[in-house]
Amino acid sequence: MCGIVGYAGDKNAVAMLMHGLKKLEYRGYDSAGIAYLSQGEIKVKKCKGRLVNLQNIVSDEIKEEHHVGIGHTRWATHGEPSDINSHPHVSRDNRFCIVHNGIIENYMSIREQLIVDGYNFESTTDSEVITHLLHYHYKGDVIEALFKTIHQLEGSYALSIICNDYPDQVFCVRKDSPLIVGKGKNENFIASDIPAILKYTRDIYIMEDHEIAIISSKLVTFYNSLGKKIEKQTMKVTWDENASEKEGYEHFMLKEIHEEPVAITKTIGPRIKNNEIILDQLVLKRPKKIIIVACGTAYHAGVVGKYLFEKLLRIPVEVDVASEFRYRDPIIDKHTLTIIISQSGETIDTLFALRKAKENNSKVLAIVNVVGSSIAREADDVLYTWAGPEIAVASTKAYSTQLSAIYLLALSFYKGEKYKDYVNQLQDVPKMIEHILNSTDQVMKTASLLYNSKSIFFMGRGLDYALSMEGSLKLKEISYIHSEAYPGGELKHGTIALIEKGTPVICSLTQPDILEKMISNIREIKARGAFVIVITQEEQVEKINEIADIILPIPNVDPLFAPIIAVTPMQLFAYHCSVYKGNDVDKPRNLAKSVTVE
Ligand code: AGP
Repeated sequence: MCGIVGYAGDKNAVAMLMHGLKKLEYRGYDSAGIAYLSQGEIKVKKCKGRLVNLQNIVSDEIKEEHHVGIGHTRWATHGEPSDINSHPHVSRDNRFCIVHNGIIENYMSIREQLIVDGYNFESTTDSEVITHLLHYHYKGDVIEALFKTIHQLEGSYALSIICNDYPDQVFCVRKDSPLIVGKGKNENFIASDIPAILKYTRDIYIMEDHEIAIISSKLVTFYNSLGKKIEKQTMKVTWDENASEKEGYEHFMLKEIHEEPVAITKTIGPRIKNNEIILDQLVLKRPKKIIIVACGTAYHAGVVGKYLFEKLLRIPVEVDVASEFRYRDPIIDKHTLTIIISQSGETIDTLFALRKAKENNSKVLAIVNVVGSSIAREADDVLYTWAGPEIAVASTKAYSTQLSAIYLLALSFYKGEKYKDYVNQLQDVPKMIEHILNSTDQVMKTASLLYNSKSIFFMGRGLDYALSMEGSLKLKEISYIHSEAYPGGELKHGTIALIEKGTPVICSLTQPDILEKMISNIREIKARGAFVIVITQEEQVEKINEIADIILPIPNVDPLFAPIIAVTPMQLFAYHCSVYKGNDVDKPRNLAKSVTVE
């Protein structure tokens, strides 16, 4: 997703902008650019490709004295990746320069009107209309021009703007796309996300929709949507700065997989006292129905949640991908608890799904990793996952901590006879994952055998099927190997036609009550030549040996907690396949860390 930085201060603006963009690379992008004010004139440097290409064309500017500027990494939505479609975009009189994250949904009608009014367009982006609208509305007051401009925009935007009539200031405004302001000493910052400015300040302001901020080296000023000056409170960022560094790991993804035990401990530890789960900050009463809404990996955590809540609480649970939920006219009322799951807290489909649930009087609980994110702020209650910043595009420790939050929630409502045992089991999860992380040779060997496969299937039943969905997505998104997850009993209803000699199928067998059924399904695919990899508890290995080509054992864990343990070998398998293929593991092609456009 696009990344935005803005700087006004006593340091070299170009160097500061490049640092910020470097820290935002993880969001995924295909071009980058900066603009800065030099003796009242706007200078722009931008190009397609990786940040190193931009670095090569700004090397001289970094030595010169500039103190105000904006920067952008673009993840193309409208207009292919190209130099001309890269941001920043400049107005025709070179007075305004903007960077934009989001989608202007009515940009075509605005573009047509502007062309009638005599404006020429250089790019094929939606964002360029903003620069011409600013020019069109400007009568000497940039705030007035900005309000008139955003009043015409439909869709989502995080905007940062410089204007050569205000050579020591940077302006910004947001609607649905995230933006923060950082307060420093003789310098202030604008950014899409915390890592861009964490090195220089821990004091941030979270921008609300339609608020405008103006930064200079000494001042930060805010206006609300009515144009009235307002005061805002800063929020202290508690992340350690290394959290956004690799710390000796080859990739962020590997580091974040290895952080899972600590991340889960941080998530569950403060919420379990004397073997009791204490979620006292949540004001939740037992709902008649639960709807879980999320995207991608967070959605897969929700599917695990469905099995858990229904098994432990006997409450009906629906799970939806956010982009479907929004348009399927769901049956929701005040007796429904809607659980929104999101690592970034900024996924636009998930944010809009949250708003739809609230419009229908549902209580909304968010399970979110980023403190102060849009979803966290708009939910009725938030159960934070304390995973720390997740930099790799492929979500790993976030998924594991989302599951741990779901287990906390399910057990907080469950008061059955196994409560104490389950709470103990949950507290044992981190050390079981540690055990897996200490012996990864078998997973690496499996990846070395299979990384050139055309397709790899995942198969399981019940919780193992929910888990298989996540294993399949992990593999797809970073190794680019085609993969699908199937319920064990479903493969023979069509897809088994694709199984031929040597087709790899990764089978999750952690649920003893359906083990025999899964063994039958494995025999079916073996008979067609499948190459079968089984993930199962150590106590089952002897029984599985004769049908599996490879076994990836996990510690003996209660089947209820298997997903949170068994996902780690799947994540490692995907990681090593990607490494063997020489892919950009942390920034896989076409993907963004947080999808803030629809
Ligand atoms: C996960 O590996 C993917 N990168 C993606 O599916 C992600 O889970 C999805 O975009 C949802 O993101 P969120 O959790 O930040 O809302």
